[in-house]
Amino acid sequence: MTETQTPARTVLVTGAAGGLGRAFAEGFAAQGDRIVVADRNVAGAEETAGLIRSAGGEALAVEADVTSAESTKALAAAAAAFGDGRIDVVVNNAAIYATIIRSPFEDIDVDEWDAVMAVNLKGPWLVTRACSPYLGAGSAVINLSSATVMSGSAQWAHYVASKGGVIALTRVLAKELGAREITVNAIAPGFTLTEASLGLIDNAASYGVDRGSLKRASEPADIVGAALFLAGPGSRYITGQTLVVDGGRQFI
Ligand SMILES: NC(=O)c1ccc[n+]([C@@H]2O[C@H](COP(=O)([O-])OP(=O)(O)OC[C@H]3O[C@@H](n4cnc5c(N)ncnc54)[C@H](OP(=O)(O)O)[C@@H]3O)[C@@H](O)[C@H]2O)c1
Repeated sequence: MTETQTPARTVLVTGAAGGLGRAFAEGFAAQGDRIVVADRNVAGAEETAGLIRSAGGEALAVEADVTSAESTKALAAAAAAFGDGRIDVVVNNAAIYATIIRSPFEDIDVDEWDAVMAVNLKGPWLVTRACSPYLGAGSAVINLSSATVMSGSAQWAHYVASKGGVIALTRVLAKELGAREITVNAIAPGFTLTEASLGLIDNAASYGVDRGSLKRASEPADIVGAALFLAGPGSRYITGQTLVVDGGRQFI
């Protein structure tokens, strides 16, 4: 690196063994950022890191469980060591999503409710808490919510409630981290074509397309673009917000 070059940023993406997480990791890497690929699925995380390295980027795969205080602390320390002591961007993407059993709220299994909350809501809190000592002025935290919070979604009370909690958490973290010039925002994607969501329904590619303003399905690249913006120089005065990325299906 010459004196005039900006050092690469360190971007931590949770749940990056595949799906949107992998797309975020590859999208930031394509900008020259170095990526910490975290997932409980370490083989998938290694695969994502390998893809980034094959494309000429820098990536470190870390096995991590976002529901564990100990594991998230070790993850943050590993990410900071990889990033010369600093973490510039955290993308809280890990979730229990497509494997959730859709049930009327009266029938949701209590253990499943707790597991969904632990990963989808406690996870972003624990990961951000663990990363906090390594975040500095200009750092950005991006939390994955869901457009189902705005629309409601029958038989998915635990998932939708967890993602509503993510929006609330985002606002509190924005208030607390704002004094350190750290932004915290959420992205609420509509139905997006990933391996996980494709398994959810038969007609995934056309699902909901007629109800959107833009008459096409959402691809991971659509969501990645929002994250690059929220972590980029053009959004430094935006914090505590939720960006709905659903092709104009609903307006908030
Ligand atoms: N795709 C959509 O239509 C859509 C729409 C709205 C919002 N979202 C949100 O976008 C994010 C990514 O969605 P996706 O479609 O890419 O889902 P996905 O493929 O299921 O990705 C989630 C990843 O998180 C990992 N994970 C689960 N529990 C974990 C834990 N305790 N610690 C660490 N990693 C863990 C999963 O590993 P395992 O495979 O081992 O469980 C998986 O690799 C999620 O937050 C989801 O709620 C998606």
